Amino acid sequence: MTGLVVAMDGPSGSGKSSVSRGVARALGLRYLDTGAMYRAMTWWMLREGVDLADSAAVAARCGEPGIVSGTDPDGPTIHVDGVDVAAAIRETDVTGSVSVVAAVPEVRARLVARQREIIGAGGIVVEGRDIGSVVCPEAPVKIYLTASAEARARRRTAEVAGSKVEDHQAAMAKRDTIDSTRKTDPLSMAAGAVELDTTALSLEEVIGEVLSLVKQRGSSGGASGAHEFPSGRDHIHERT
Ligand code: DC
Repeated sequence: MTGLVVAMDGPSGSGKSSVSRGVARALGLRYLDTGAMYRAMTWWMLREGVDLADSAAVAARCGEPGIVSGTDPDGPTIHVDGVDVAAAIRETDVTGSVSVVAAVPEVRARLVARQREIIGAGGIVVEGRDIGSVVCPEAPVKIYLTASAEARARRRTAEVAGSKVEDHQAAMAKRDTIDSTRKTDPLSMAAGAVELDTTALSLEEVIGEVLSLVKQRGSSGGASGAHEFPSGRDHIHERT
């Protein structure tokens, strides 16, 4: 790996997509949304009528769809067998089922292999749940974005017209529980990751924090070196 990899993990609504795209744009890097790949797999399973409660059936068919991700941060794309599914994968049927599909080990093995191919020699910001821990543990910059449950639900409510904060908060709590308690590659903070609490920060502030971390770590190339942060910055925590 010669180019920089920024691994951006965290729960839903923590701001990963906006932050990752902003950082990729600022640094002229590619951008990969791995959640969109799990969503695309789920969209395909639903279309095929696969019983998602039957993990063996999901596992048996997960090699079939051809999932192609475009990595331009100004216009990321996602296709399944040539069909543009960018809008369809954000619909509630996919959102409500994706955690179950993403918990199937065979699905993860296939998509992780594909993600590693796309990362290739680096030069990319990759967002997901297991990027710093499983997909690319050697990434020199690993961020774990968090925000309070309420702030995360508020952000989602602003994105979906006419929706309610309480509904988003309940749905997110359910997804987070499945994502962090599944047996294979659960959402967790990777060793060497820096936790950034975005609850009280603007998007620009978060992007600025990540860019300064990239400056410190990206050039030194080490994921494990400890860094001093000025006092009074309690939204940043480092895990060694
Ligand atoms: O980030 P998102 O909401 O689009 O992710 C959709 C689902 O995929 C979510 O339930 C977690 C799962 N996911 C995962 O298990 N591993 C990843 N690297 C990315 C997403």
